[in-house]
Amino acid sequence: MNAWSLNYRDLMVVRGQYSARMPLPLTPLSDGVGRVVEIGDGVTRVKVGDRVMPIFVQKWLCSMPTEAASKSSLGAGGPGLLAELVVLDEQGLVHTPEYLSDEEAAALPCAALTAWHALVAAGNIQPGNTILTQGTGGVSLFALQLGAIAGARVLITSKSDAKLDRAKKLGAAATINYQATPDWDKAARELTEGTGVDHVIELGGAGTLPRSMKAVRYGGTISLIGVLTGGGEANPTPLLMRNIRLQGVFVGSREMFEAMNRAIELHRLRPVIDRLFPFSDAADAYRYLESAGHFGKICIRR
Ligand SMILES: NC(=O)c1ccc[n+]([C@@H]2O[C@H](COP(=O)([O-])OP(=O)(O)OC[C@H]3O[C@@H](n4cnc5c(N)ncnc54)[C@H](OP(=O)(O)O)[C@@H]3O)[C@@H](O)[C@H]2O)c1
Repeated sequence: MNAWSLNYRDLMVVRGQYSARMPLPLTPLSDGVGRVVEIGDGVTRVKVGDRVMPIFVQKWLCSMPTEAASKSSLGAGGPGLLAELVVLDEQGLVHTPEYLSDEEAAALPCAALTAWHALVAAGNIQPGNTILTQGTGGVSLFALQLGAIAGARVLITSKSDAKLDRAKKLGAAATINYQATPDWDKAARELTEGTGVDHVIELGGAGTLPRSMKAVRYGGTISLIGVLTGGGEANPTPLLMRNIRLQGVFVGSREMFEAMNRAIELHRLRPVIDRLFPFSDAADAYRYLESAGHFGKICIRR
């Protein structure tokens, strides 16, 4: 392994909040990039020297995952990648787009694929659609960048005006500070001439869902992805009264990952890396993630 990236989930894993069934002790982390150093008999998908990214759900190759496959996620369902050498099934690997650095590619397997799954594979996003995405972490900035590739207009929220300025430079059409403007749903409707957005990338979870149901248009989609607000209760009635589609999204399959890589390679998308930590300081990378001061991805490099 040569580079890794952190996701909010990795923080939940080390805090013991992710899954009660986690086998311990466990090598953490789901996302990384490495080179194949040895292969077993009959391996055909990769050869020695190939630069590859392990897929997040190791046994989810295409269509919908089975329950057994969905338990094969790296760094929680089984051992993860924060190690110098790992042993993986050839089926659980995809090749890395050549133009990306190791740390840029390491940013893709969870955050980028989740945004792609939400917007493209399940969301059928169309040119001219308006997306609202929450915060400026990994998934949200990929939603911004992938939404822009798809020809959509992207609204983004953050607690920080400085981060919102950076999001504008990255292509956000409009920004909302959710601390200065707690009724950000109203602001989103105003930015869409009172109609509401076509698609919400819901990263806060139950705590933000009530406002997301107000921010989305009649017949629009909410991709339920995150749990950043930690809990709360949401009344589902607006979903039916306003014909809203609530789509749960769990990362994505190998097939989706390969489709996304073709798109990002074509558009030369560059993942936003906030900070790079050496392998020996991996614990500091987790602490930095916990501070929520980042913009985009936090990576680790050998
Ligand atoms: N379902 C799945 O398959 C899947 C896949 C990936 C991630 N997730 C989930 O998606 C969420 C985001 O993951 P990530 O790795 O992108 O996280 P991350 O990089 O740690 O991003 C966290 C950022 O979200 C923003 N935020 C926090 N609370 C918020 C709130 N109440 N409203 C709006 N924004 C808020 C903050 O940005 P600002 O500083 O800009 O406010 C914070 O820095 C997590 O809950 C994670 O578990 C789920």
